[in-house]
Amino acid sequence: MIELIEVSKTYLLGKDQQVQAVKPTNLQIQSGEFVVITGRSGSGKTTLLNLIAGLTRPTSGSVLLDGHDLWSLSDKEQSLLRNQTVGFIFQFPSLLPSLRVLDNVVLPTIFEESGAVSNEKYARAKELLATVGLSDKLRAYPRQLSAGQQQRVVIARALLNQPKLLLADEPTSNLDEQTETEIMELFRQIHTTTGITMVMVTHTSQLVRYGTRAISMAMGQVLNSGD
Ligand SMILES: Nc1ncnc2c1ncn2[C@@H]1O[C@H](COP(=O)(O)OP(=O)(O)OP(=O)(O)O)[C@@H](O)[C@H]1O
Ligand SMILES: [Mg+2]
Repeated sequence: MIELIEVSKTYLLGKDQQVQAVKPTNLQIQSGEFVVITGRSGSGKTTLLNLIAGLTRPTSGSVLLDGHDLWSLSDKEQSLLRNQTVGFIFQFPSLLPSLRVLDNVVLPTIFEESGAVSNEKYARAKELLATVGLSDKLRAYPRQLSAGQQQRVVIARALLNQPKLLLADEPTSNLDEQTETEIMELFRQIHTTTGITMVMVTHTSQLVRYGTRAISMAMGQVLNSGD
């Protein structure tokens, strides 16, 4: 599903200061895996996830996503591939406050070519909101939801286009422990029922047990990728 070949990312800070956020890395993630990436703040987790998603251009190396070399595609091909293949849950979740829950979930399709949102997408959005336990909140606004409920909406939105790959960056970091467990159980359920490939970043090492493989990062280095 994912292959990183000698991928690194260096950020330039001003004229002569550099940060090697991800050191040259080789990593393969097979279809159907649930990989949990842990590491301290600043160790390069988000950068690695953004490299996998094709949201960050690597300084060196190649990223293969579902067999395609991401950075040899045109912009258009790349964003099409990303839209069809990847669902992304960001570290700082973003629901549009002026849109109701249901409209937030169908939001990704607004950027697709046709413009209008099909009834089919609305039906799928409702189905997903039922899966995440929010059937009674379709017409609520984000501010009327708890943090855990908002995160469920974000998860439903990430699954709208039936991605093969779900990437999640610290999806439970703003939640209390019980809500965190609920969200993790939801991820586990989604993983086992759909067979989707998942990569999740967390700084809570206890969450590793939800995955099928653990990877840890320190100072830009992927430390272990055994299972
Ligand atoms: N856009 C950027 N420009 C410059 N430096 C950056 C940028 N993004 C990240 N960095 C640096 O790269 C390193 C890795 O950052 P990254 O966000 O990947 O860490 P992280 O493991 O996700 O941390 P956290 O757990 O705090 O989210 C850090 O030293 C950070 O300061
Ligand atoms: Mg991060």
